[in-house]
Amino acid sequence: MQKIGNYFAMLCVLATASLLSLPASAAMIDTIPNTTFISCYARFPNPSDLRTIITPTYAISADYEPDDLVLLPEYVGYPVTLSKDIYVREQVAEPLQAMIAEMWDLGLRPSIVSAYRSYPQQQRVWDQWYAEYGERARDISAIPGTSEHQLGTTVDFGSPEHSHRFYTTFYLTSEGRWLAENAHRYGFVLSYPRDAVGGLSTYEYEPWHFRYVGVEFATYLVEKNMTLLQYQHENLAAPCIPARVVPRNVR
Ligand code: DAL
Ligand code: ZN
Repeated sequence: MQKIGNYFAMLCVLATASLLSLPASAAMIDTIPNTTFISCYARFPNPSDLRTIITPTYAISADYEPDDLVLLPEYVGYPVTLSKDIYVREQVAEPLQAMIAEMWDLGLRPSIVSAYRSYPQQQRVWDQWYAEYGERARDISAIPGTSEHQLGTTVDFGSPEHSHRFYTTFYLTSEGRWLAENAHRYGFVLSYPRDAVGGLSTYEYEPWHFRYVGVEFATYLVEKNMTLLQYQHENLAAPCIPARVVPRNVR
């Protein structure tokens, strides 16, 4: 949060430059000497980057769609995707396939309930949660443009022990237990743990929601007992605050 706060002054300068129709870079160089200028564009969340930040504050473009989406049932089979056409980015499909294969060898029967969701699909998900829970939906569901699912690297798992439905006690199922212990070996990390280090989390506990970041980095995070969000806040420059995303039912 510290770094994010530090960029506030720069954002103000950029806003002022824009109002005065000045090139932002010129305004920055004139007003903040000895500061390495990083353009606002470069600091916009980059959805193709496996480590990119995406939170209720930092959205990605509504029309972003990964250009390498593949049909997941071709890798893991329709029984695993519960007969649904589900998509992920190509680089996620093989690690996921390998992880599912190991789980099946162990007698586990994980499903993949959801993965890539476009902006309009996330809008429908959000609308359902909002209709049921009102403002509390903000703790459970991402407003469109701010969901890790739009990245195409995020997967929601299910367990037959819970009829493949989302319950917080997923962590007690055989599949949930195994994933909590082993998913990092295949490059996946839990985005929204129950006890996020330093209280840093954006949503309620989601023991089924894993994001692919690559084996090396996932292992690093697990060994450091660090969430991806904590790493992002401590190590990445804060992105520019994008145009506010206002779904239809958010006031
Ligand atoms: N349930 C998570 C936060 C999402 O909607 O992306
Ligand atoms: Zn999810």
